Amino acid sequence: MDSARVLHWTEEALDQRNVVALLHERMAEETLEGALVVDATAGNGHDTEFLARAVGASGEVLAIDLQASAVEATRRRLAGDPDLARRVRVIEGDHATLADLTPTSWAGRVSLVVFNLGYLPGGSRAVTTRAGSSRAAAAAALELLAPDGLLCMALYTGHPGGAEEAATLRAWSAEQASPRVRVHHIRDAGDGAAGRPEVLLIRRRAASNPQEDPPTIQHFEHEVPASDPDQGVAE
Ligand SMILES: C[S@@+](CC[C@H](N)C(=O)[O-])C[C@H]1O[C@@H](n2cnc3c(N)ncnc32)[C@H](O)[C@@H]1O
Repeated sequence: MDSARVLHWTEEALDQRNVVALLHERMAEETLEGALVVDATAGNGHDTEFLARAVGASGEVLAIDLQASAVEATRRRLAGDPDLARRVRVIEGDHATLADLTPTSWAGRVSLVVFNLGYLPGGSRAVTTRAGSSRAAAAAALELLAPDGLLCMALYTGHPGGAEEAATLRAWSAEQASPRVRVHHIRDAGDGAAGRPEVLLIRRRAASNPQEDPPTIQHFEHEVPASDPDQGVAE
């Protein structure tokens, strides 16, 4: 992965708005035409729509959400464009059971799984993703990935349970780092970083010579003094 791209983002603090833009920018860098992809937190369908466009007419998107209202919202978002809608299957379910919700023929063939964690914007804040189920879902997602496939997670730490969930996923992702799994962790390390979103990018790597492998876990942090806003720092 290209650290210069990350430096671009570390020039400004991550917030609720630009973390989604960062996620979409990173997803847009993947080759998704014709791909099988999963949106594990469909919500209002913004990420699902983004993926439906990215996979093109020959790709397929599975979009999952625990809440019926989110499933409805995602279907509504797609309904205006039958071409997009036919690429997407939206289902109500718990992503902790991702392995059961995904067609068996998709195992090891999925190019990208995205989790945009937290609560449904505009919905009840009482229903939010949780550490235990998110960890189980992330583990299932990693199993689904094709060689070179990418697991993207936006973590929000500002709501109740969010910091615990982020800590759980950070620890889990660190355990996955190996010659075959590359972990990138992007977060704001500047003053007031507590409560800011973070991003985990976890890639199942294609077989390669372990001798040539770069480090398997990398942290990119934002730490920009107010007087020098152009000086993003990586690692
Ligand atoms: C931040 S929202 C997702 C935003 C969405 N990706 C979009 O583009 O609008 C998080 C979503 O996760 C869903 N969620 C919470 N726990 C879940 C679970 N265990 N399985 C599946 N979805 C879950 C919530 O219902 C909520 O809609």
